[in-house]
This record gives sequence, C-alpha cells and structure tokens, in this order.
Amino acid sequence: MTYTRRFGVIKMQNAIKRYEDVDSWKTIIFLYTSALKEVETKLEILNDEFRHVHKYNPIEHIKTRIKTPESIVKKLKRNGYEASIENMVKYINDIAGVRLICSFTSDIYRLAEMIGNQSDLKVLTIKDYIKNPKESGYKSYHMLVSVPVFLSDSVVDTKVEIQIRTIAMDFWASLEHKIYYKFEGNAPEYISQDLRKCAQMVSELDEKMLSLNEAILACVEKEKDGKNS
Ligand code: GTP
Ligand code: MG
Repeated sequence: MTYTRRFGVIKMQNAIKRYEDVDSWKTIIFLYTSALKEVETKLEILNDEFRHVHKYNPIEHIKTRIKTPESIVKKLKRNGYEASIENMVKYINDIAGVRLICSFTSDIYRLAEMIGNQSDLKVLTIKDYIKNPKESGYKSYHMLVSVPVFLSDSVVDTKVEIQIRTIAMDFWASLEHKIYYKFEGNAPEYISQDLRKCAQMVSELDEKMLSLNEAILACVEKEKDGKNS
C-alpha cells in the first residue's frame, strides 16, 4: 500500500488562523478531539491484532478525556503563563489524554513498544514512573506523542499524552488524586505515609500477579505438550 502526503504539515497555530471565522477555542478542541480519536482507534487495532494472534489482549480498557477549560487555565497560571490559545498549545501537553489500563506490568512495556513502532506517531517524550516512581509513590508509564490529523487541505501534528498503567496502579492513582484534591496538596503526613505504603503494596501485588500469570501460562504449555506427545 503506498501513501503520499498531498498536503503539507502545518503547525497548530497556523491551523487556527485558517479557521479565522470560527472560534479558535472550538478549533483547538476539534483538533485535539480528532487526535484523540485517531490514537484510540490505533490502540484498539493493536489490541485486536494482539488478541487475534496471541489470543490475549494487553489492554483491559481505554479511557480518553479532553482537559476542561478550567484545568487548562489553572495549569497555565500555575506554571506562570498567561491564559492564551498560543500558550495552551505550546505549554500544555495533556489537553488530549489517553489512559491505557493493563493487567500486568509486562503488558505496559509491550504496549509502549508497539506504540513506538507506529510509523505515523512521533514519540516526543517518555517518562517511566514505573522504573522511577514519584515521591508520592505514583507509578505509570507516560508517553507524549504527536499524531497527524488529516484535514481537508492540511495535516496538523497534534500532541496526545498516553498514560499506561496496571489496574492496581490505576486504583492507587485515582484514590491518591482524590486525596490530593481534597487537601489541595497538603494532606496530613499520616495519610501521605499510608498512601506510600499502599503504593508499595500495589507494586508487590503487581509482581505477584505477573509471576502467577507466568506460572499459569507455563502450566498451560506443559499440558499442551503432554497432549501433543
Ligand atoms: P502535570 O502538570 O501534573 O501534568 O505534570 P507534568 O507535566 O510534570 O507531567 P507528569 O508526567 O509528571 O504528570 C502528568 C500526569 O500524570 C498528571 O496530570 C496526572 O494525571 C498524572 N500524575 C503525575 N503524578 C501523579 C501523582 O503523584 N498522583 C496521581 N494520582 N497522578 C499523577
Ligand atoms: Mg496532567
């Protein structure tokens, strides 16, 4: 299959100018929503292909979200930038976000590799908070990618943040997030400490589940060999 790019790739700022008569906020949201759809479909295809070949799906589920205008403005201000369309495109990397929830840590690295191999996705940055957890105990694998959004007369490379984590890491992160918001970042020390302990338990559980799964697979293989011989 050959594929030629008939249209040039343009910057998001220029894409906005092309729609001068349309509200630029709406243009931005339209572009990021389109990028999110592209990435979600790609990931579903990878998951389906994996299931088709290996009878196993590395993704348990996919969550997508567009950052709300309130959180965009808050984040810009927090980082010392004026709230403007230009700054949000330049400095906010997680306007479009995808979260991939897996069963095992091995699935995370398998998925990250598959994503990295997609020729039309550009991996801009990787943050491996599994190998290097955050002080809070937070673990996840983050990839910032850019995906080409094909419009009627141009192509716009659009950033999407992909977070990959296990079910257990996700469980921890959602509770920690709630607590963080509840106390506006100043949770009592005993709560933060308990959370860090829970993060340790999550890591141990993930390791245990992975080795248990490997043991199960080994048993299945052995049974198969027994039947075939
Ligand atoms: P943000 O300004 O929070 O987006 O951080 P960043 O731009 O330095 O990027 P980073 O990769 O550290 O974090 C991006 C996202 O990861 C956040 O928006 C959260 O969704 C998630 N995250 C990072 N750290 C934590 C944490 O300690 N707890 C939880 N629950 N989520 C976190
Ligand atoms: Mg964020």
